[in-house]
Amino acid sequence: MKKNYQNIVILSGAGISAESGLATFRSSNGLWNNHRVEDVATIEAFQRNPEYVHDFYNEMKPELLRAQPNAAHRAITELQKGYKGKVSIVTQNVDTLHEKAGSKNIYHIHGQINQAVCLNCGHILETWSDVTTETACPHCETNGMMKPNIVFFGENLLYMNEVDRLLKECDLFISVGTSGVVYPAAGFVQIAKLHGADTYEFNREETSNNYYFDHHIFGSAGSTLPIFVKELLESQKAEI
Ligand code: APR
Repeated sequence: MKKNYQNIVILSGAGISAESGLATFRSSNGLWNNHRVEDVATIEAFQRNPEYVHDFYNEMKPELLRAQPNAAHRAITELQKGYKGKVSIVTQNVDTLHEKAGSKNIYHIHGQINQAVCLNCGHILETWSDVTTETACPHCETNGMMKPNIVFFGENLLYMNEVDRLLKECDLFISVGTSGVVYPAAGFVQIAKLHGADTYEFNREETSNNYYFDHHIFGSAGSTLPIFVKELLESQKAEI
């Protein structure tokens, strides 16, 4: 670990929200064990049966609205507040637990559960209420063109220009709670590593894209990440 990092990028996945009680995707009782991706997370599914896709995300909302951030989210907020370098969060998660923990500089590359996008004008509607095929766009007033602002498989990620710049500038890349199987996010560590970053992976177990990580910190992120953040903050103080 260096003493003073200038640009830290933290990539989070569903595992960081597991200790807040939210299901991950690929664990034994994961979301993709109970629903087929092809039925709820592709643009074809949305064209084929928009009511079913809207229901899937509407049914998720109450639990995600109730969920509270855990020690891992709070540790990231503490790092952002106490560390001199810039700390950016690139999250694959559609929950808002980083925001609830008080974090800033958050890029939801797979979208957000409390947003819908108008396929006619691109307006983003922020709402925790149900969105249906009847929901009119508040901006262009077109009916039935609102889609959950969730990036479906086969769609482009959000914020990719900003994220590409962050990855090329960062000198510390931290991956927390992601299985590293879904690209392009699973390839972010490679870009960071090839541009000179130190790379750390926080997970409960080995993942499939561990080649580019210099360090693997095994355990629950709610326990391992606060310890790491404390070390980062103390190492910076030692420098002063
Ligand atoms: N602490 C650390 N890691 C954990 C914890 C925990 N408490 N609990 C689970 N994990 C790890 C698991 O070991 C697993 O590697 O989190 C990872 C969760 O993996 P996935 O369920 O595949 O979730 P994720 O990597 O975020 O999926 C990426 O796939 O389907 C798409 O859009 C969806 O954003 C999602 C993307």
